Amino acid sequence: MKVTIIGAGNVGASCASLLAQKDIVKKIVLLDIIEKLSEGKSLDISQMLPMIQSNTEIIGISNDYSKSKNSEIIIITCGIPRKPGMSRDDLVKTNAKIIRSVTEKSIFFSPKAKLIIVSNPLDVMTYVSYITAKVDSSRIIGMAGILDSTRYRFFLSKKLNVSPIDIQSLLLGGHGDTMVPLYRYTSVSGIPIKEFLSEEDNNVIIEKTKKGGEEIVNFLGTSAWMAPSASVVKIVEAILKDSKRIFPCSVFLKGQYGLKDMCLGVPVILGNNGIEKIVELQLNQKENNLLKRSAFHVKNMIKKL
Ligand code: APR
Repeated sequence: MKVTIIGAGNVGASCASLLAQKDIVKKIVLLDIIEKLSEGKSLDISQMLPMIQSNTEIIGISNDYSKSKNSEIIIITCGIPRKPGMSRDDLVKTNAKIIRSVTEKSIFFSPKAKLIIVSNPLDVMTYVSYITAKVDSSRIIGMAGILDSTRYRFFLSKKLNVSPIDIQSLLLGGHGDTMVPLYRYTSVSGIPIKEFLSEEDNNVIIEKTKKGGEEIVNFLGTSAWMAPSASVVKIVEAILKDSKRIFPCSVFLKGQYGLKDMCLGVPVILGNNGIEKIVELQLNQKENNLLKRSAFHVKNMIKKL
């Protein structure tokens, strides 16, 4: 099994490192536009192999997409990250150009690959990749909901003083300020969240989650990479192991949730075929309004682009 990661920056290199530690793929190709960057990073990661007891081969490549040939999964992490004061939307034009050209080259050499998109603004970049790739929408997967959900679970675990592992949650909508966490579908080891926290108090945690990425940008001067790459690895694992796990991912919608011709975060079942099913929930009026607002925001950006 071969996985190619495009972009050997913070997110890309961390994806390679975490994936190598799982020892679930035969070969990882790490590719970047900057000469020698992926070669150096892949060598560094490779030197962990004896210690982490992994047989994964990691190869660093500058620009030569032929080396990505016949990858089962391609993870697209290239593009510019946010700087303090920037929103994810500010990256749209620059990253759209990059995603378009990278998708074309990736699909040319790996026509059967599933693509996982990480570059921001996520829902728009996933759409750009889908339009460019001209493949079935089940093969284009945007990583955002898993990350937003894991941030929410972490903040909630701190508030409730319980293990983050025991918190289950579900999010819909776009990556960023218009994400729609579902209070009704949040629980702690199966116990509905309302037994622990009022909806008002939960809203405080949701607001903190929405600003979770920005908080890190303000500390580091660039965007996060550890939690994002761990989220990507969850998707890769679900596909390669055909585990049928349910995660929120950004996918091309064809009428589900009353939305079409756009990519947005919804719960999906992931397996060997990529997105095997979009899970449609019966939303109440309030949840539906929030989702529509989120969709409006993403659609506007697509139109502008
Ligand atoms: N082809 C291949 N690699 C490219 C290209 C391209 N056309 N354009 C840029 N890159 C590479 C850069 O050379 C850099 O090494 O993408 C890498 C991006 O790495 P970082 O600048 O460290 O950015 P990172 O933090 O990894 O974020 C990448 O993921 O989470 C999102 O918002 C984030 O859009 C950003 C993306």
